Amino acid sequence: MISKGIVLTALMTSGAEFGQVIPVYDPAQAERGRSTYAVTCAACHGPDLGGGQFGPPLKGVNFRQRWAAQPVADLFEQVRTMPPGQARSMTDTGYAELVALMLAENGMAAGQQALPTDVASLRTMVMPGKAAPGPRQSAGGGLTHGYKLPFWPQPPNPLDTISPVTDALLTNPPEGDWLQWRRTWDAKAFSPLDQVNRSNVKDLGVAWSLALPPGPNAATPLVHDGVIFVHAFRDNVLALDAATGAQLWQYSRQLPEGVAPSVKRNLALYGDKLYVGTSDAHLVALDVKTGAVVWDK
Ligand code: HEC
Repeated sequence: MISKGIVLTALMTSGAEFGQVIPVYDPAQAERGRSTYAVTCAACHGPDLGGGQFGPPLKGVNFRQRWAAQPVADLFEQVRTMPPGQARSMTDTGYAELVALMLAENGMAAGQQALPTDVASLRTMVMPGKAAPGPRQSAGGGLTHGYKLPFWPQPPNPLDTISPVTDALLTNPPEGDWLQWRRTWDAKAFSPLDQVNRSNVKDLGVAWSLALPPGPNAATPLVHDGVIFVHAFRDNVLALDAATGAQLWQYSRQLPEGVAPSVKRNLALYGDKLYVGTSDAHLVALDVKTGAVVWDK
Protein backbone atom coordinates (compact mmCIF):
# COMPACT_ATOMS: atom_id res chain seq x y z
CA MET A 1 0.00 0.00 0.00
CA ILE A 2 2.68 2.43 1.08
CA SER A 3 4.87 1.85 -1.96
CA LYS A 4 1.85 2.29 -4.23
CA GLY A 5 1.19 5.66 -2.63
CA ILE A 6 4.74 6.78 -3.31
CA VAL A 7 4.58 5.74 -6.94
CA LEU A 8 1.32 7.63 -7.37
CA THR A 9 2.79 10.79 -5.88
CA ALA A 10 5.77 10.52 -8.18
CA LEU A 11 3.48 10.21 -11.17
CA MET A 12 1.42 13.19 -10.15
CA THR A 13 4.32 15.50 -9.48
CA SER A 14 5.75 14.66 -12.88
CA GLY A 15 2.56 15.87 -14.48
CA ALA A 16 1.37 12.50 -15.75
CA GLU A 17 -2.15 11.45 -14.91
CA PHE A 18 -3.28 8.35 -13.11
CA GLY A 19 -2.97 5.25 -15.26
CA GLN A 20 -0.31 6.78 -17.50
CA VAL A 21 3.29 5.72 -17.40
CA ILE A 22 6.11 8.22 -17.40
CA PRO A 23 8.83 7.51 -19.95
CA VAL A 24 11.85 5.52 -18.77
CA TYR A 25 15.38 5.48 -20.14
CA ASP A 26 18.81 4.75 -18.79
CA PRO A 27 21.75 7.17 -18.78
CA ALA A 28 24.01 5.04 -20.99
CA GLN A 29 21.27 4.89 -23.62
CA ALA A 30 21.01 8.69 -23.67
CA GLU A 31 24.79 9.02 -23.97
CA ARG A 32 24.86 6.68 -26.97
CA GLY A 33 22.12 8.88 -28.41
CA ARG A 34 24.35 11.91 -27.84
CA SER A 35 27.11 10.43 -30.00
CA THR A 36 24.70 9.66 -32.84
CA TYR A 37 23.11 13.07 -32.47
CA ALA A 38 26.40 14.92 -32.92
CA VAL A 39 26.98 13.20 -36.25
CA THR A 40 23.46 12.89 -37.66
CA CYS A 41 21.28 15.64 -36.22
CA ALA A 42 23.38 18.49 -34.81
CA ALA A 43 23.96 20.15 -38.18
CA CYS A 44 20.27 21.08 -38.33
CA HIS A 45 19.02 21.05 -34.73
CA GLY A 46 22.10 22.72 -33.19
CA PRO A 47 25.02 21.18 -31.30
CA ASP A 48 23.13 21.27 -27.98
CA LEU A 49 19.59 20.49 -29.29
CA GLY A 50 18.78 24.17 -28.91
CA GLY A 51 17.75 24.58 -32.54
CA GLY A 52 19.74 25.62 -35.58
CA GLN A 53 19.44 27.25 -38.93
CA PHE A 54 17.71 24.22 -40.47
CA GLY A 55 15.81 22.56 -37.64
CA PRO A 56 13.67 23.51 -34.63
CA PRO A 57 14.85 23.11 -31.01
CA LEU A 58 14.53 19.63 -29.53
CA LYS A 59 14.59 20.89 -25.98
CA GLY A 60 13.19 23.78 -24.00
CA VAL A 61 9.80 25.18 -23.10
CA ASN A 62 8.30 25.16 -26.59
CA PHE A 63 9.43 21.62 -27.33
CA ARG A 64 8.04 20.34 -24.01
CA GLN A 65 4.80 22.23 -24.52
CA ARG A 66 4.42 20.78 -28.00
CA TRP A 67 4.89 17.20 -26.79
CA ALA A 68 3.19 17.53 -23.38
CA ALA A 69 0.76 14.70 -22.67
CA GLN A 70 1.55 13.04 -26.02
CA PRO A 71 2.46 9.37 -26.16
CA VAL A 72 6.22 8.82 -26.45
CA ALA A 73 5.33 6.60 -29.41
CA ASP A 74 4.42 9.75 -31.38
CA LEU A 75 7.77 11.35 -30.64
CA PHE A 76 9.50 8.09 -31.56
CA GLU A 77 7.59 7.94 -34.87
CA GLN A 78 8.56 11.53 -35.58
CA VAL A 79 12.21 10.83 -34.87
CA ARG A 80 12.06 7.80 -37.19
CA THR A 81 11.26 10.23 -40.04
CA MET A 82 14.64 11.90 -39.44
CA PRO A 83 16.95 12.95 -40.97
CA PRO A 84 14.56 14.42 -43.56
CA GLY A 85 14.58 12.26 -46.67
CA GLN A 86 16.22 9.37 -44.81
CA ALA A 87 13.34 8.04 -42.71
CA ARG A 88 14.14 4.76 -40.91
CA SER A 89 17.76 4.97 -42.03
CA MET A 90 18.82 3.86 -38.53
CA THR A 91 17.85 0.95 -36.32
CA ASP A 92 15.00 1.32 -33.81
CA THR A 93 17.62 0.89 -31.09
CA GLY A 94 19.44 3.91 -32.48
CA TYR A 95 16.25 5.95 -32.68
CA ALA A 96 15.29 5.03 -29.11
CA GLU A 97 18.72 6.28 -27.98
CA LEU A 98 17.99 9.62 -29.64
CA VAL A 99 14.61 9.87 -27.90
CA ALA A 100 16.34 9.01 -24.61
CA LEU A 101 18.73 11.89 -25.23
CA MET A 102 15.78 14.24 -25.78
CA LEU A 103 14.16 13.07 -22.54
CA ALA A 104 17.43 13.67 -20.68
CA GLU A 105 17.95 17.11 -22.24
CA ASN A 106 14.40 18.08 -21.29
CA GLY A 107 14.99 17.37 -17.64
CA MET A 108 13.41 13.93 -17.27
CA ALA A 109 15.16 11.73 -14.73
CA ALA A 110 16.97 8.61 -15.89
CA GLY A 111 16.29 5.21 -14.33
CA GLN A 112 17.53 1.64 -14.52
CA GLN A 113 15.40 0.59 -17.47
CA ALA A 114 16.10 1.47 -21.08
CA LEU A 115 13.47 3.17 -23.20
CA PRO A 116 11.87 0.33 -25.18
CA THR A 117 11.96 0.24 -28.96
CA ASP A 118 8.55 -1.27 -29.65
CA VAL A 119 5.82 1.18 -30.46
CA ALA A 120 3.19 -0.67 -28.38
CA SER A 121 5.12 -0.14 -25.14
CA LEU A 122 5.98 3.42 -26.13
CA ARG A 123 2.28 4.07 -26.64
CA THR A 124 1.65 3.45 -22.94
CA MET A 125 4.21 6.10 -21.97
CA VAL A 126 3.19 9.72 -21.94
CA MET A 127 5.31 12.85 -22.02
CA PRO A 128 4.96 14.94 -18.84
CA GLY A 129 3.04 18.19 -18.72
CA LYS A 130 -0.45 19.35 -19.54
CA ALA A 131 -1.66 19.38 -23.12
CA ALA A 132 -1.95 22.91 -24.47
CA PRO A 133 -5.58 23.94 -24.89
CA GLY A 134 -6.12 23.39 -28.60
CA PRO A 135 -9.21 23.67 -30.77
CA ARG A 136 -10.43 20.30 -29.48
CA GLN A 137 -10.51 21.33 -25.83
CA SER A 138 -11.50 24.94 -26.43
CA ALA A 139 -14.97 25.92 -25.30
CA GLY A 140 -14.91 29.19 -27.26
CA GLY A 141 -17.79 29.80 -29.65
CA GLY A 142 -16.46 32.53 -31.92
CA LEU A 143 -17.51 36.16 -32.14
CA THR A 144 -21.01 37.45 -31.60
CA HIS A 145 -22.67 37.95 -34.97
CA GLY A 146 -22.13 41.43 -36.33
CA TYR A 147 -19.43 42.33 -33.84
CA LYS A 148 -16.56 44.21 -35.44
CA LEU A 149 -13.12 43.73 -33.96
CA PRO A 150 -11.14 46.95 -33.54
CA PHE A 151 -7.88 47.15 -35.51
CA TRP A 152 -5.03 45.66 -33.59
CA PRO A 153 -2.25 48.06 -32.68
CA GLN A 154 0.26 48.51 -35.51
CA PRO A 155 3.89 48.09 -34.53
CA PRO A 156 5.97 51.21 -35.16
CA ASN A 157 7.37 51.27 -38.70
CA PRO A 158 11.06 52.30 -38.72
CA LEU A 159 10.57 53.75 -42.23
CA ASP A 160 8.38 56.49 -40.72
CA THR A 161 11.42 57.99 -39.03
CA ILE A 162 14.26 56.93 -41.35
CA SER A 163 16.66 59.81 -41.99
CA PRO A 164 18.28 60.80 -45.31
CA VAL A 165 21.78 59.38 -45.86
CA THR A 166 24.18 62.34 -46.05
CA ASP A 167 27.88 62.60 -46.92
CA ALA A 168 28.54 63.16 -43.23
CA LEU A 169 26.76 59.90 -42.34
CA LEU A 170 28.67 57.96 -45.00
CA THR A 171 31.97 59.31 -43.68
CA ASN A 172 31.09 58.66 -40.06
CA PRO A 173 28.28 56.09 -39.89
CA PRO A 174 26.35 55.64 -36.62
CA GLU A 175 27.40 52.48 -34.76
CA GLY A 176 24.25 50.55 -35.62
CA ASP A 177 24.32 51.43 -39.32
CA TRP A 178 25.93 49.66 -42.28
CA LEU A 179 25.52 52.18 -45.06
CA GLN A 180 27.85 50.82 -47.72
CA TRP A 181 29.46 47.58 -48.92
CA ARG A 182 32.32 47.34 -46.38
CA ARG A 183 30.70 49.86 -44.03
CA THR A 184 33.31 52.64 -44.19
CA TRP A 185 35.34 54.26 -46.99
CA ASP A 186 38.45 52.36 -45.88
CA ALA A 187 36.50 49.10 -46.42
CA LYS A 188 37.37 47.64 -43.03
CA ALA A 189 34.00 45.85 -42.72
CA PHE A 190 34.31 46.26 -38.95
CA SER A 191 31.33 46.86 -36.70
CA PRO A 192 32.04 48.96 -33.60
CA LEU A 193 28.99 47.43 -31.83
CA ASP A 194 30.17 45.64 -28.70
CA GLN A 195 27.05 44.19 -27.08
CA VAL A 196 27.92 40.79 -28.55
CA ASN A 197 31.37 39.80 -27.37
CA ARG A 198 33.60 36.76 -26.87
CA SER A 199 32.01 35.77 -23.59
CA ASN A 200 28.34 35.95 -24.61
CA VAL A 201 28.46 35.01 -28.29
CA LYS A 202 27.67 31.42 -27.33
CA ASP A 203 24.25 32.56 -26.04
CA LEU A 204 23.09 34.01 -29.35
CA GLY A 205 19.81 32.55 -30.56
CA VAL A 206 17.47 33.08 -33.48
CA ALA A 207 15.31 36.21 -33.14
CA TRP A 208 13.64 35.78 -36.54
CA SER A 209 14.46 34.19 -39.84
CA LEU A 210 13.42 34.77 -43.41
CA ALA A 211 13.98 32.66 -46.50
CA LEU A 212 15.35 34.54 -49.52
CA PRO A 213 14.58 33.31 -53.05
CA PRO A 214 16.76 30.26 -53.82
CA GLY A 215 19.97 31.13 -55.71
CA PRO A 216 23.19 33.02 -55.05
CA ASN A 217 22.17 35.68 -52.54
CA ALA A 218 25.57 37.35 -52.38
CA ALA A 219 24.85 41.03 -51.82
CA THR A 220 25.83 42.66 -48.53
CA PRO A 221 22.67 43.94 -46.83
CA LEU A 222 22.67 47.62 -45.88
CA VAL A 223 21.33 48.83 -42.54
CA HIS A 224 20.06 52.29 -41.71
CA ASP A 225 17.94 53.49 -38.77
CA GLY A 226 16.67 50.00 -37.95
CA VAL A 227 15.87 48.98 -41.55
CA ILE A 228 17.72 46.21 -43.43
CA PHE A 229 17.84 46.51 -47.23
CA VAL A 230 18.51 43.22 -49.02
CA HIS A 231 19.24 42.63 -52.68
CA ALA A 232 17.82 39.11 -52.98
CA PHE A 233 18.33 36.80 -55.94
CA ARG A 234 16.15 37.27 -59.05
CA ASP A 235 16.20 41.05 -58.72
CA ASN A 236 14.11 41.28 -55.58
CA VAL A 237 14.89 44.11 -53.19
CA LEU A 238 13.46 43.90 -49.67
CA ALA A 239 13.19 46.43 -46.87
CA LEU A 240 12.92 44.63 -43.52
CA ASP A 241 12.35 45.77 -39.96
CA ALA A 242 15.65 44.73 -38.37
CA ALA A 243 14.01 44.08 -35.00
CA THR A 244 11.16 41.85 -36.15
CA GLY A 245 12.02 40.70 -39.68
CA ALA A 246 8.71 42.17 -40.89
CA GLN A 247 8.81 43.05 -44.57
CA LEU A 248 8.22 46.77 -45.04
CA TRP A 249 8.24 46.79 -48.83
CA GLN A 250 9.49 44.78 -51.79
CA TYR A 251 10.64 45.74 -55.28
CA SER A 252 10.58 42.94 -57.87
CA ARG A 253 12.12 43.57 -61.27
CA GLN A 254 10.28 42.00 -64.20
CA LEU A 255 13.12 40.83 -66.44
CA PRO A 256 12.66 40.77 -70.21
CA GLU A 257 12.41 37.32 -71.75
CA GLY A 258 15.78 35.66 -72.24
CA VAL A 259 17.57 37.69 -69.54
CA ALA A 260 18.93 35.47 -66.76
CA PRO A 261 19.16 36.90 -63.26
CA SER A 262 22.76 37.73 -62.35
CA VAL A 263 24.50 37.63 -58.98
CA LYS A 264 24.38 40.97 -57.16
CA ARG A 265 26.98 42.28 -54.76
CA ASN A 266 25.59 45.48 -53.43
CA LEU A 267 23.09 48.29 -53.13
CA ALA A 268 23.74 51.97 -52.52
CA LEU A 269 21.94 54.30 -50.12
CA TYR A 270 22.08 58.04 -50.61
CA GLY A 271 19.70 60.80 -49.61
CA ASP A 272 16.19 59.35 -49.59
CA LYS A 273 16.91 56.82 -52.33
CA LEU A 274 18.17 53.27 -52.68
CA TYR A 275 20.12 52.57 -55.90
CA VAL A 276 19.73 49.14 -57.47
CA GLY A 277 21.53 47.59 -60.42
CA THR A 278 19.36 45.13 -62.34
CA SER A 279 20.12 41.98 -64.34
CA ASP A 280 18.94 43.71 -67.53
CA ALA A 281 21.58 46.40 -66.96
CA HIS A 282 19.37 49.21 -65.68
CA LEU A 283 20.06 51.46 -62.74
CA VAL A 284 16.91 52.02 -60.70
CA ALA A 285 16.40 54.56 -57.92
CA LEU A 286 13.84 53.50 -55.32
CA ASP A 287 12.15 55.67 -52.72
CA VAL A 288 13.64 54.45 -49.42
CA LYS A 289 10.33 54.83 -47.59
CA THR A 290 8.06 53.06 -50.08
CA GLY A 291 10.17 51.09 -52.55
CA ALA A 292 8.46 52.99 -55.38
CA VAL A 293 10.55 53.57 -58.54
CA VAL A 294 11.70 57.22 -58.68
CA TRP A 295 13.67 56.80 -61.91
CA ASP A 296 14.91 53.95 -64.11
CA LYS A 297 17.78 54.34 -66.60
C1 HEC B 1 18.63 18.39 -42.74
C2 HEC B 1 18.22 18.94 -41.48
C3 HEC B 1 17.75 17.97 -40.39
C4 HEC B 1 18.44 16.89 -39.88
C5 HEC B 1 19.82 16.37 -40.28
C6 HEC B 1 17.60 16.38 -38.84
N1 HEC B 1 16.46 17.09 -38.73
FE1 HEC B 1 14.97 16.80 -37.37
N2 HEC B 1 13.87 18.28 -38.24
C7 HEC B 1 14.29 19.06 -39.27
C8 HEC B 1 13.23 19.97 -39.63
C9 HEC B 1 13.27 21.02 -40.72
C10 HEC B 1 12.15 19.70 -38.76
C11 HEC B 1 10.79 20.40 -38.71
C12 HEC B 1 9.89 19.92 -39.80
C13 HEC B 1 9.57 18.47 -39.67
O1 HEC B 1 9.04 18.08 -38.62
O2 HEC B 1 9.81 17.73 -40.63
C14 HEC B 1 12.60 18.62 -37.90
C15 HEC B 1 11.83 18.08 -36.91
C16 HEC B 1 12.28 17.19 -35.97
C17 HEC B 1 11.56 16.77 -34.80
C18 HEC B 1 10.17 17.24 -34.39
C19 HEC B 1 10.36 18.47 -33.56
C20 HEC B 1 9.05 19.05 -33.09
O3 HEC B 1 8.98 19.38 -31.92
O4 HEC B 1 8.15 19.15 -33.91
C21 HEC B 1 12.33 15.91 -34.12
C22 HEC B 1 12.01 15.22 -32.81
C23 HEC B 1 13.57 15.77 -34.87
N3 HEC B 1 13.50 16.56 -35.99
C24 HEC B 1 14.63 14.97 -34.51
C25 HEC B 1 15.76 14.77 -35.31
C26 HEC B 1 16.79 13.83 -35.00
C27 HEC B 1 16.83 12.95 -33.75
C28 HEC B 1 17.72 13.89 -35.99
C29 HEC B 1 18.96 13.05 -36.18
C30 HEC B 1 18.70 11.66 -36.45
C31 HEC B 1 17.26 14.91 -36.93
N4 HEC B 1 16.07 15.41 -36.48
C32 HEC B 1 17.96 15.27 -38.06
C33 HEC B 1 15.52 19.04 -39.88
C34 HEC B 1 16.51 18.08 -39.66
